[in-house]
Amino acid sequence: MTVKPVKKAVFPVAGLGTRFLPATKAMPKEMLTVVDKPLIQYAVEEALEAGIEQIIFVTGRGKSALEDHFDVSYELEATMKARGKSMHLIEGIRQKPGSPVYVRQQEPLGLGHAVWCAREIVGDEPFAVLLPDELMVGGFMRQMVEAYNQVGGNVIGALEVPDSETDKYGIISPGQRDGRLTEVLALVEKPKGKAPSNLMIPGRYILQPEVMKILDAQEPGAGGEIQLTDAMAKLIGTQPFHGFTFDGARHDCGDKAGWVQANIALALAREDIGSAVRDYVRALIG
Ligand code: UTP
Repeated sequence: MTVKPVKKAVFPVAGLGTRFLPATKAMPKEMLTVVDKPLIQYAVEEALEAGIEQIIFVTGRGKSALEDHFDVSYELEATMKARGKSMHLIEGIRQKPGSPVYVRQQEPLGLGHAVWCAREIVGDEPFAVLLPDELMVGGFMRQMVEAYNQVGGNVIGALEVPDSETDKYGIISPGQRDGRLTEVLALVEKPKGKAPSNLMIPGRYILQPEVMKILDAQEPGAGGEIQLTDAMAKLIGTQPFHGFTFDGARHDCGDKAGWVQANIALALAREDIGSAVRDYVRALIG
């Protein structure tokens, strides 16, 4: 079996971020920082570390801060150079994604619709999708690409959640398990009533381009949105389809508590500020 390598990644960043208001009224949710880096930069770095070469952002109105973040900041760089300041914190950002491509989603009609907006750039190739409001520590996409290179087809993240939370996520109906890979028999978005398992789909996907053809005709599903899960479900049986269990940590930064937890976890792990934060947290909780 020849497996076509994954070279392109789509980052849907056109959502409204309503769970994070008022912070996201004038600022994209994906620009929220965890310690000192915006969420979108963590996600882009994760993709580049996995060997992705083409970065595709699906943006919308009010998201220009994202484009500026990956562009040259002439005044900042000239001033820092003139003052003899080290450029290492900003230098890598604009070089790393090469030339990112920006496409617009004119209305936030759902994740499936956002991914579909990138169809012309994706073309006839497998592609990754990374949702930047989920911060993964430990190289999730790299691990997924390694697994994909073995089995091909579609490989999506699979993560166990408590039974009481399954109605919040896309859920996998699992078949045979082989190490970290689980065969996917069916998918259901935000199941009402009994869920087929407690394996949810975190925001990481490697998909075949055929999903775009399904999205061409996909009707709105749960929440009135065009759901990626519903389109992916139609690929099952026509192509290999696996869930991949990640060996690392996931922080749901689209949620306020998850974002605060991510800040604490990543700050504690930092060499420069970890011990000061640890002392403070210890004193705070007594
Ligand atoms: P979310 O559902 O978590 O983001 O989508 P949201 O809609 O912005 O957030 P809330 O629920 O209102 O707080 C996950 C990712 O998909 C993107 C979002 O920008 C986010 O990165 N997205 C979602 C789109 O690009 N377009 C959409 O229509 C919906």
